[in-house]
Amino acid sequence: MPRALVCYYSRSGHTEHMAKAVAEAFKQAGLSADLHKVEAVGPDDLLDYECLVFGSPTYYGTMAWPVKKLLDESVKHHGKLKGRVGGAFTSSGNLAGGNETTVLDILKALLVHGMIVQGDPSGDHFGPAAVGRPDARALRSCQTYARRLAALTLRLFPEPERE
Ligand SMILES: Cc1cc2nc3c(=O)[nH]c(=O)nc-3n(C[C@H](O)[C@H](O)[C@H](O)COP(=O)(O)O)c2cc1C
Repeated sequence: MPRALVCYYSRSGHTEHMAKAVAEAFKQAGLSADLHKVEAVGPDDLLDYECLVFGSPTYYGTMAWPVKKLLDESVKHHGKLKGRVGGAFTSSGNLAGGNETTVLDILKALLVHGMIVQGDPSGDHFGPAAVGRPDARALRSCQTYARRLAALTLRLFPEPERE
């Protein structure tokens, strides 16, 4: 079974709520899913997953520094994440408070790694975004996103090499 990592930073619990929704939907869609605070994840851990999704609150229009720190540390394995599936989600304080730029900043790093990201022609185009505590719409967006990324991961990694 392909493995997914949902790795997030959250101070007041909003992004964490989204992370739990993403991880639960991954499991329902046929992936094994590990849910970890970013502080508990090191760059070596990233190699264990076919699908890696990062959640961050929007801080000054971009990701919070613990998420950026992990992504910067991941240079240790530059090239090894090529072809794996990636994604991002965020919670911001304001509707136009920089939530899309936050998701795109994370996705840019994943693209530099050579990872595969997927947009959505309807709904949250770049990745799920909530304003404050995720409401029903935002949680549905997390579930839809996870289902789509899971389907992509299962197509790309029907039988992970290590199994
Ligand atoms: C240092 C800091 C910077 C922030 N910058 C922004 C911002 O640029 N735009 C915005 O809409 N909200 C901003 N916020 C609000 C958070 O994104 C928002 O409260 C979010 O829901 C917190 O998520 P969490 O509960 O997962 O920590 C900021 C909050 C902090 C503490």
